[in-house]
Amino acid sequence: MTEPLILCENLVKIYRLNTANGASVEVQALQGLDITVRDGEMLGIVGASGSGKSTLLNVLGGLDRLTGGRALVGNQDLSMLSESALDAYRRDKVGFVWQHGARNLIPYLTAVENIQLPLTIAGQAGRSARARALELLDLVGLRERRDHRLEELSGGEQQRVAVGIALANRPQLLLADEPTGELDTSTAQTIYDLLRDLNKRLGLTMVIVSHDPGIARHVDRVVAVRDGKLASETVRVQRSDGGEHHVELAVLDAAGRVQLPREYLEEFNIHRRVTIESTPEGILIRKPEGEAHSGEHGPSSKEQEAAEAEATALRNPSRLSQVWGGLKSMLQKRSRR
Ligand SMILES: Nc1ncnc2c1ncn2[C@@H]1O[C@H](COP(=O)(O)OP(=O)(O)O)[C@@H](O)[C@H]1O
Ligand SMILES: [Mg+2]
Repeated sequence: MTEPLILCENLVKIYRLNTANGASVEVQALQGLDITVRDGEMLGIVGASGSGKSTLLNVLGGLDRLTGGRALVGNQDLSMLSESALDAYRRDKVGFVWQHGARNLIPYLTAVENIQLPLTIAGQAGRSARARALELLDLVGLRERRDHRLEELSGGEQQRVAVGIALANRPQLLLADEPTGELDTSTAQTIYDLLRDLNKRLGLTMVIVSHDPGIARHVDRVVAVRDGKLASETVRVQRSDGGEHHVELAVLDAAGRVQLPREYLEEFNIHRRVTIESTPEGILIRKPEGEAHSGEHGPSSKEQEAAEAEATALRNPSRLSQVWGGLKSMLQKRSRR
């Protein structure tokens, strides 16, 4: 097993927002997330919108700082870096691909010029910048299209140019945030194939956020983020017949906590507490004896009881006339005003 390139422990990121009335609210984007990525691994991240995926990428890419926890990338502790060291980390070690990759590109420049431009801005001299840009176009399989203006390229080809730019600094880590979000399925497939090819050829570690659950086919491993924490992990398992299939595993956090799938909690009518038993087959999690009624120990059981009592009372004619009497006098008072 290769060394981890990324080792994250108990990541916490809190955003403080000021509301219109001057109050401040906190958003916990990461709530104790643990994650490890091997050197050379191609990792997929899935999760509902707002679960913290982009925040995680921004932290790993040195675009955003943690509120708590520790993020090590290649032995550098990102929280300990000064502003200038973090800038250097981002510039030298990381490549980014965004969902709207082409938005950062210039429509009237050609493919090769678009790649050459940031190299020139970074201080590379004209001829060597052009040579490097052509080399990068080769890497992303776009050399024949080098002299086409960006606006003459398809969405998938434009995203290839964006990948080329992301590779310009020879990063050790490529971060992609929904890189296929605006592409149709078959074009998305070609981008994933390209990323896989680069991962293999360059040994480049990749973390790819996707809304597509089918991403498991394209990467080594998929982790699911839920509410700012790692919830599950899908791994590829080789079968004895040579084929392979995917298995979804629940993830323990550093303290040994595990999140149970919501469907199972509903199926077994489990609410707040469980019994945990050791059995020869493994650990058995069960609804406690005597907690048979649905909602009995649920968090809102008090409110539910009160609502049920009110509903029963309303079915009682004398309570109903009382309520009606109250309503009538209220309406009369209104009409007198
Ligand atoms: N710059 C920010 N300021 C305030 N809140 C933010 C900021 N970025 C993200 N958030 C909030 O943090 C949570 C996680 O966001 P994000 O990481 O973008 O999720 P995802 O990429 O999974 O959709 C969301 O509730 C989002 O509104
Ligand atoms: Mg996002």
